[in-house]
Amino acid sequence: MSTCPNASVGMRIQDVDTPSLIIELDSFENNIQLMSFSLDGKNVHIRPHAKSHKCPEIAHRQIAAGAVGICCQKVSEAEAMINGGIADVLVSNEVVGKVKLERLAALAKRATVAVCTDNLENVKDLGAVAHRYGVILSVLVEVDVGGKRCGVEPGASALALAKEIIAQPNLRFGGLQGYHGSAQHIRSVAERRLAIDSAAEEIRKTLGPLEVAGIPCPRVTGAGTGSYLFEAASRVYTELQPGSYIFMDADYARNEWAGSNIPAYEQSLFLWTTVMSTPVPERAVVDAGLKALSVDSGLPLVADLAGVEYTGVSDEHGTLSLPGNSRLRLGDKIRLSRGSSLAYFRPRPGLLTPVAFRFCEMPKKNPPVVIDRGIFIHSQERTLSTCRPYRHREASEA
Ligand SMILES: Cc1ncc(COP(=O)(O)O)c(C=O)c1O
Repeated sequence: MSTCPNASVGMRIQDVDTPSLIIELDSFENNIQLMSFSLDGKNVHIRPHAKSHKCPEIAHRQIAAGAVGICCQKVSEAEAMINGGIADVLVSNEVVGKVKLERLAALAKRATVAVCTDNLENVKDLGAVAHRYGVILSVLVEVDVGGKRCGVEPGASALALAKEIIAQPNLRFGGLQGYHGSAQHIRSVAERRLAIDSAAEEIRKTLGPLEVAGIPCPRVTGAGTGSYLFEAASRVYTELQPGSYIFMDADYARNEWAGSNIPAYEQSLFLWTTVMSTPVPERAVVDAGLKALSVDSGLPLVADLAGVEYTGVSDEHGTLSLPGNSRLRLGDKIRLSRGSSLAYFRPRPGLLTPVAFRFCEMPKKNPPVVIDRGIFIHSQERTLSTCRPYRHREASEA
């Protein structure tokens, strides 16, 4: 375990060692406020998705700004959130397998926990584990609203699942989830809106049969940063799950936004890197490669330096192509902005880094870095402050 953190409170940003994730505090706080303003008077709840940050301290800030709770994609993320004091978590995903089901049920002893399902056997497994643990689990039926990932067909199949949930003494029917993931990055506003109109229609096809069967639907949840105001306008969704808005990313920046009414969220999370080699005038190399970022949504962009491009990536190196007039020197520090807000961490098998720590600092090669300093943040005056540190239990305890 490394005992040398990249930063300490009060340190100038220029002195922060690299590679490090840094949050631009002004944009970060502004994004949280913008989300609240944009939903003012819309009569829907917000439950932000924590997969973008995996960090309880940020979740607390979102709740302080009006969120009713947090979404997680995995049981391990839910554990990190509940260990960090979050009281209401929706695992917006299916949970399968004895070990994970038991961990989920154990969490329901400590917090309000809901989970999604799209399978009858899975409902029975959830019912059995909730009974063994003596807890009540809220279970939502996930409906495929066009994303073609998880989720049952709308209508009769969803109704059958709801009935099975109700038949299980330790389960409560928590409502429907209809998340249209592939709609989020449809570039055109008009086409994105159409995709969500169609998602809402699929939900209506399920609400009708539920009503006929006399089954009240406590909530309809879904939506991401690219579309959430369309779901809000549908009068079908009662809860929204955007996640990326707090940090944003280069891929969302390519969406068309004009006419959507969705606010101009700013990028607030960057990767701080150092120029480690300048072998020839047209090329420089920084210390952030595949171990520090992933490139699923394209290579990162270089912030602040016009014409400089990140053009090559290997394990621990990023190659920058420089235009003729740029003067990068050894030791210069550079902000990279991400191809996708969800694409930073690529934990390797066996690396049991606690979730919240993965957010805080890049895992380095051999040995992995474990940081206990919370989230590093710098504001415009370029001094570091820090969120209240969240100390995660050691991986072996988790
Ligand atoms: C189920 C679910 N809800 C919400 C989100 C958040 O979407 P975004 O990060 O685009 O705001 C995601 C992201 O993948 C998701 O899978």
